[in-house]
Amino acid sequence: MERNLSVLMVSAEAHPLAKVGGLADVMGALPKALAKRGHNVRIALPFYKTVKDTGISVSRMKGIDVLDVAMGDVAIPAEIWVGKLPGTKVEVLLVGNDDFFDRDGIYTDPKTGEAYSDNAERFIFFSRAVFMLINLLKHRPNLIHCHDHQTGFIPAWIRYAPGQSGLPEDVRTVFTIHNLAYQGSYPKEVGYKAGFGEDVLKPMGAVEFHGEVNLMKAGISFADTITTVSPTYGKEIQTAEFGYGLEGILKARSKHLFGILNGADYSVWDPDKDKLIPHTYNRSKPEGKQKCRGHLIERLGLDVGDETPLIGIVSRLVAQKGLDILSEVFDEIMALDVGIVILGLGDKHYHDLLTAAAKRFPGKVSVNLDFNEELAHQIEAGCDMFLMPSKYEPCGLNQMYSMKYGTVPIVRKTGGLADTVIDLGASEESTGFVFADYTSSELLEAVRRARQAYADRAAWDRLVDRAMAQDFSWERSAESYEDVYRATMRRRVVTAS
Ligand code: ADP
Ligand code: GLC
Repeated sequence: MERNLSVLMVSAEAHPLAKVGGLADVMGALPKALAKRGHNVRIALPFYKTVKDTGISVSRMKGIDVLDVAMGDVAIPAEIWVGKLPGTKVEVLLVGNDDFFDRDGIYTDPKTGEAYSDNAERFIFFSRAVFMLINLLKHRPNLIHCHDHQTGFIPAWIRYAPGQSGLPEDVRTVFTIHNLAYQGSYPKEVGYKAGFGEDVLKPMGAVEFHGEVNLMKAGISFADTITTVSPTYGKEIQTAEFGYGLEGILKARSKHLFGILNGADYSVWDPDKDKLIPHTYNRSKPEGKQKCRGHLIERLGLDVGDETPLIGIVSRLVAQKGLDILSEVFDEIMALDVGIVILGLGDKHYHDLLTAAAKRFPGKVSVNLDFNEELAHQIEAGCDMFLMPSKYEPCGLNQMYSMKYGTVPIVRKTGGLADTVIDLGASEESTGFVFADYTSSELLEAVRRARQAYADRAAWDRLVDRAMAQDFSWERSAESYEDVYRATMRRRVVTAS
């Protein structure tokens, strides 16, 4: 039998402690699923104000007073706290520094909607503290699993100066790309501050990108293994359309690049057990769904009859999510006789567009510019269809949640959406509606097909039942991560330059 692994996951989000999007959901579930398989898994997270606000019980890490984290010429103190991911035995290591993390937002200031201007320093500080911590931990992890660009310097520090890092060679790194569009590109000085030399900061160097330092590129260049969150996105990012300039280096590393589909955490997202919805239901007793629908309609003050399907959207309101093509045909969609419920936060431009749309269709469209977990669950439960017309979607979680809630997804064929939803016309196993091209006319056509299908209620109920029968639980994905981890531990390491 192979020995169990000791894994340290490093991330800027983890549900339910700090959440902006799907990264948090993954971090709330994957460590748990791996721990269930017998591995020792810990998470490192910044000690944000949102974490404190959850009331989680924490204590200072024994034996470590304060870490002096070198940032260029200065040393900045990091307090290390320890707690548990709520509801689990997974240990969470919290890197504290109130100047950096005692703020209302994670990446952006909720008051202005702008990204914090010192995000480079905040996340490099966090990463550096975690890097220092590896060797100080009582049971030293042998696999460091870093998530997204905020943590991209960790694999780089480990491999860039292996002699200086003080870490034994059996410390290996996996770097997961959740969204290649957010790369963390900063002025070159940031690279010097982080301790890199001209060899990797020079043009075409492993950390350099268009004259700047790029945290995502650093992670991709130096990690022993790279993963991303669906097989299709794994292929897409090796093309110019989805690679955002990093397709070349991803292609060069394709032997060590794996697409592993995320799972859905059914301890959080299951209408049979969901405490955030007013009526529970399941496949054999689906009646509760109608009641949830009635409750949602009332909660949002809508005036939508039984014959009119309700379409839900829960999303960050950013260009990735297909809001441009949606706005182009919004009124044509409404002319099909549907109701639309939107929950999201993001760019002001989309806030304005959607608010205007809601004004045009009083009683039929509800736009909620908020971050609200309860409402997100109630939309999944109370709607008939769920729309995700994404321009690109590394994995996407809401389409998987929607299926479990019997809320038929209408999605664009990209990334994880392509890997999880089967179009009604394509097979007897269909679970939703899929359109190929990123155009408003294809989107409209997909909604039209869904609207027509909804009119045949017996056939619709069968479609709903097939969707609810899908199983995207984390067990399978955790097994794939375990395979990747073991392969990573077995391989000889190669150093990028
Ligand atoms: P992404 O990570 O790109 O935002 P995903 O589909 O992977 O997209 O995950 C989004 C997660 O964030 C889901 O759990 C979704 O319910 C949640 N979410 C997004 N916006 C909101 C919001 N405004 N309020 C509550 N939950 C939200
Ligand atoms: C990113 C992606 C989303 C994915 C999530 C979790 O935020 O945009 O598609 O589901 O990460 O991996």
